[in-house]
Amino acid sequence: MALAAAAERVAAEFEYPKEDVIRGVEHFIKQMDEGLSKQGATLSQIPTYVTAVPNGTEKGLYMAVDLGGTNFRVCSIQLHGNSTFSLTQSKVKIPQELMVAKTSHELFAFLAKQIELFLKTHHGEHYTSHVERRKSYIGGGVQNTEVFQLGFTFSFPVQQSGINKGTLIRWTKGFDIHETIGKDVCALLQKELDALNLPVRVAALVNDTVGTLMARSYTSPGKTGTLLGAIFGTGTNGAYVEKLERVTKLQKMGKDAGDVDSSTGEMIVNTEWGSFDNEMKVLPDTPYDNALDKESNNPGIQMFEKRVSGMFLGEILRRALVTLIKDPAVPLFSDEHSNQNDMHSTTNIHDNSNLYKQWGLDTSFLSITSGDNSGGLKITRQTLDSEYGVSAASAEDAEAVRLIASAVGKRAARLSAVAIAAIIIATGKLDRPTDIATTNNATLEVNEDDVVDVGVDGSLVEFYPNFEEYIREALREVPQIGVQGERKIRIGIAKDGSGVGAALIALVADKATRGSSA
Ligand code: GLC
Repeated sequence: MALAAAAERVAAEFEYPKEDVIRGVEHFIKQMDEGLSKQGATLSQIPTYVTAVPNGTEKGLYMAVDLGGTNFRVCSIQLHGNSTFSLTQSKVKIPQELMVAKTSHELFAFLAKQIELFLKTHHGEHYTSHVERRKSYIGGGVQNTEVFQLGFTFSFPVQQSGINKGTLIRWTKGFDIHETIGKDVCALLQKELDALNLPVRVAALVNDTVGTLMARSYTSPGKTGTLLGAIFGTGTNGAYVEKLERVTKLQKMGKDAGDVDSSTGEMIVNTEWGSFDNEMKVLPDTPYDNALDKESNNPGIQMFEKRVSGMFLGEILRRALVTLIKDPAVPLFSDEHSNQNDMHSTTNIHDNSNLYKQWGLDTSFLSITSGDNSGGLKITRQTLDSEYGVSAASAEDAEAVRLIASAVGKRAARLSAVAIAAIIIATGKLDRPTDIATTNNATLEVNEDDVVDVGVDGSLVEFYPNFEEYIREALREVPQIGVQGERKIRIGIAKDGSGVGAALIALVADKATRGSSA
């Protein structure tokens, strides 16, 4: 079979047509409702106990730390109160042995030590005066004004039970400390901070999506506030502003009104949408998706994330390419100078190529090849050579690779649109009276009162060419949104949710504590 035709056939397997988008949105809305009403549903819909989004006027000096991958980041954030902030930070790689330590103490003591180092380096005066005052303070206890309020971004699945309380459900991303499971991670950190006598209070537990939502609200406050914060990076997830009365499982969780600040009537909910449709009722499936899942360390789990996020897209593409490479009828990476009758000499790909290794193809390659405008796809061919052991790939080879890569990327964007559309529809944000007047006027400017704001972060939205445009195309295909609705949706990058976003949640949490104790 000609190479181009074979590549087109594989690319077509990744098509995710309008009808499927619409069906996906309906199912997503259903799973959102289930998640709000009971624990243990497919969409976790975790109440975050954050009941307000910022408006840009917030002020003060706060701390934030971020544990979620290979690095531990410590920051202090000065909020200037005019939608701007300054941030000081330090980053350290987490030693491998601490990721798989025997006890939580080993990891959390290391984190506290890094916070101490940061304070000594960047906030020496504050640190010293606190330690001196604390020594002379009779009767113990620390006054709030002397203490840094800290937002703890902890991007692992956590069962949250208060704004600074949450127990670890399971470790992911290479961490494995059995003893931590079921423990309150905020309390673990606070204990180690106290052991070092540090002027720091863990005020809030933060998922990166919630941080993104807060960061976006602070830096780009629109008239209507931000509705949704979403990550399309290594993983994918979203957090949105929900009506408190719709989070009916709060009562079932034994939360009385006293535990929740209900003054705004709203609460940010962390959907954990990576697990949308684990049952595979509406998600698209190809042999490559299927094999990826079966050979992963959590088969049947995070099925949406496995089709959308950066951790997996490279692996989907790799599996599709290997299928073609192994098909003797398809001349992908074949060596035109070799003897076509000899099966062993017809390929330009090294036996040791990363393409033959599970997880061997990095998702950044999708962005590189999809965005390759060089003549004869030179950049794609060079990358295949330097990273993937394919010497002398032809322009036709590169075209075939690019076609499939783009199909995988586009499907991911259209699936992302399903989640975004469902949340916008379920929260009724487009159902404003002005919609009726504007429906037939395609040239009308979008009124600021009608804007639905979405903050996004992550390598895919940042680097994958046209990711947002593909999302928008799919949004327009959803009848409840359409061309008019799509124009009202503002999507903007919200950088640094785990820094400024976490600081803002620490601020909100601190205000709430002071309010309730006053
Ligand atoms: C994974 C985590 C989730 C996080 C997301 C993005 O899906 O479970 O908590 O928000 O990755 O980093």
